[in-house]
Amino acid sequence: MYVCMCYGVTDKQIARAVKESGVGNVRQLRQQLQLGSQCGKCIQMAQQIIDDTIVDESLFKDVG
Ligand code: FES
Repeated sequence: MYVCMCYGVTDKQIARAVKESGVGNVRQLRQQLQLGSQCGKCIQMAQQIIDDTIVDESLFKDVG
């Protein structure tokens, strides 16, 4: 699914940036991926995906 239409960034790319590069917010994400600097409509969705991915990761860690 595309999150940022302007730059063609997908949710999978964002999740990978969180998991592999430890991205924790949109500012850090924008150092990895170009997104949000055209129309800005994707910022909220990008933050949501970062949050969801971090939650997933911490659930995984709890399980062991
Ligand atoms: Fe990301 Fe426009 S959709 S900057």
